[in-house]
Amino acid sequence: MKLLHIAASPKPKAQSCGKRVADAFVNAYLQEHPQAQCGYIDLNDLQIPPMTRDLLEAFEGGVPKGETEARALDRYNALCEEFMTADRYVVSFPNWNLTAPPVLVSYMLAAARAGKAFRYTAHGVQGLLRDKKAAIVVSSGGIISENRPKEMCTAVTWLQNLFLLCGVSDVQVLYCEGMEQMPQKAEEIVAAAIENAGRQGAVWDEKTGEA
Ligand SMILES: Cc1cc2nc3c(=O)[nH]c(=O)nc-3n(C[C@H](O)[C@H](O)[C@H](O)COP(=O)(O)O)c2cc1C
Repeated sequence: MKLLHIAASPKPKAQSCGKRVADAFVNAYLQEHPQAQCGYIDLNDLQIPPMTRDLLEAFEGGVPKGETEARALDRYNALCEEFMTADRYVVSFPNWNLTAPPVLVSYMLAAARAGKAFRYTAHGVQGLLRDKKAAIVVSSGGIISENRPKEMCTAVTWLQNLFLLCGVSDVQVLYCEGMEQMPQKAEEIVAAAIENAGRQGAVWDEKTGEA
């Protein structure tokens, strides 16, 4: 069993609510599954090459124009291979202007690839990832898990659907939210989210659905 822990907040762990909550989830899971391997990716350390016009040509099967594109394509392929070998995904990101930080979008472009993670068939898109699960940890200054604003945090829906497209239908979502909406309760909110994540991580392989 291999767990891939992917973190998108540029803040250091000690200052990022999302990273702290995701850590609690992952640590609880690993405690229950000591034989599991765990890879950690801080997306802000990766420097994923941007999808330029020249890189896109190579990405779509063309011959890389030069050394830059060849290296960038190798990088994309390596990220995809690493993603494909995982059985469990924990992705944390902050809600930024109703979406996710661009590093997460760039990473998923490299990782969740047509022909690898999913493929097009005459009957529609077919996910190629089997028997895998994902957990998404969203940190948000405002409350987004309830009422109308939920539909406005497009990144949660985007990532859930992207996993679904790849064949990962078991996607759990954990929220750490409202710290800026209720600053007087911020510490309390984060502590509760960490506690909940610990509980959820410990039983991750025993249940399905949204937490
Ligand atoms: C550039 C930027 C945009 C943000 N946009 C939103 C937003 O649209 N809605 C919201 O509720 N909070 C927003 N926030 C607040 C963050 O979601 C909040 O600070 C979150 O806890 C950050 O998570 P982290 O500590 O894991 O980095 C934004 C913060 C930044 C820096």
